[in-house]
Amino acid sequence: MEKIIAVTRGDGIGPEVVNEGLKILKVIAEFTDLSFEFKDAPAGGEVYKKYGENLPKKSFDIIKGADALLFGAVGLPELPPGVAETAILRIRQELDLYINLRPIKLYESLKDKCPLKDEFIGKGIDITFVRENTEGLYANIGYISDDRAENLMIYTRKGCERIIRYAYEFAKKMGHSKVTSVDKANILKTSQLWRKIFHEIGSDYPNLQKEDIYIDAYCQWLIRAPYRFQTVVTGNMFGDIISDEGAFLIGSLGMASSGNIHPGKVSMYEPIHGSAPDISGKGIANPIGAILSVKLMMQESFQSSDIAKEIENSVEEALKEGRTIDLRNPEIKNLTTKEMGDLVAEKLKVRLKR
Ligand code: NAD
Ligand code: IPM
Ligand code: MN
Repeated sequence: MEKIIAVTRGDGIGPEVVNEGLKILKVIAEFTDLSFEFKDAPAGGEVYKKYGENLPKKSFDIIKGADALLFGAVGLPELPPGVAETAILRIRQELDLYINLRPIKLYESLKDKCPLKDEFIGKGIDITFVRENTEGLYANIGYISDDRAENLMIYTRKGCERIIRYAYEFAKKMGHSKVTSVDKANILKTSQLWRKIFHEIGSDYPNLQKEDIYIDAYCQWLIRAPYRFQTVVTGNMFGDIISDEGAFLIGSLGMASSGNIHPGKVSMYEPIHGSAPDISGKGIANPIGAILSVKLMMQESFQSSDIAKEIENSVEEALKEGRTIDLRNPEIKNLTTKEMGDLVAEKLKVRLKR
């Protein structure tokens, strides 16, 4: 079955890591029944510099007409903050991609790069952050003047209900025993509504334990006992922040993938990191976050869990033999971005041929 994949390479290391994601999609096309048509949908800072907009209509139309979007990263240090980045928020808002799925899994083969001691790793790290992706402070409501600025944080019942229900369903599907909600209900009215709805909806899931943790305490629990968490549901800003913290627990920001999802609609898959201007153009960026985003695409948009699993197995296997420099280990070969992608692609070919 042919799927149309819109491709936004973006800025900085975006194009470097997206190329490796595309390599994996090409292997899938070669060895399975899926096939892909790729359509470029340029967005971000470089595009802004050329055309004065970060998401030209032509690109957005391509995205809207696709089955899924593979996205790199946007942002340029020479542009004011937000000029490139609001392209992402527009895609999330206008396509109503209310679920931001961000898995954090420590692979056995990367345990040497987890910054925690064994006693804190415990029985392992395998958490999925379910981040609300269309409301809160990131809805971009506000203004800035010379002496004052405001952002409005609005959460609606509809917005809370749908993400929280999704999280419970996700936990059930994954065989998890507990759902953790992270909020700031001791201060924020929005969190008080969120927490109320978390328990209202939770009554439909008697077999799942429920747990509320405040965001500040959660930041220490995530380091102190990450093995306690399975499905973690939270608002837009808290989800943004804890997912970068979680990413470093599994070795590097370059390892973490995400899906911006509206079930049944065109969804967007991207590594959680940014354009990393400090390393861009050097060919050393870790492409695994982008590759695992393709894994999420298979799982969530194309109902191809078997292929998804093989991508993950290939990544895990490849990391024993070679790694990019962010994951350096003197006993394991140091690879460029492209070599890392090649290695995972080789492993995947062998697995899909079977
Ligand atoms: P960043 O994620 O780009 O980089 C933070 C640090 O992590 C840097 O040291 C970087 O080298 C490292 N890093 C990130 N990805 C890596 C990878 N794949 N391999 C190895 N190391 C990696 O965050 P930042 O520096 O705060 O932001 C840079 C720009 O990216 C800004 O313009 C920001 O707004 C933008 N940004 C975009 C997205 C996105 O497009 N989704 C996400 C976050 C930040
Ligand atoms: C992310 C990024 C984006 C966000 C920014 C660049 C808009 O940090 O995807 O985590 O905050 O959601
Ligand atoms: Mn972020």
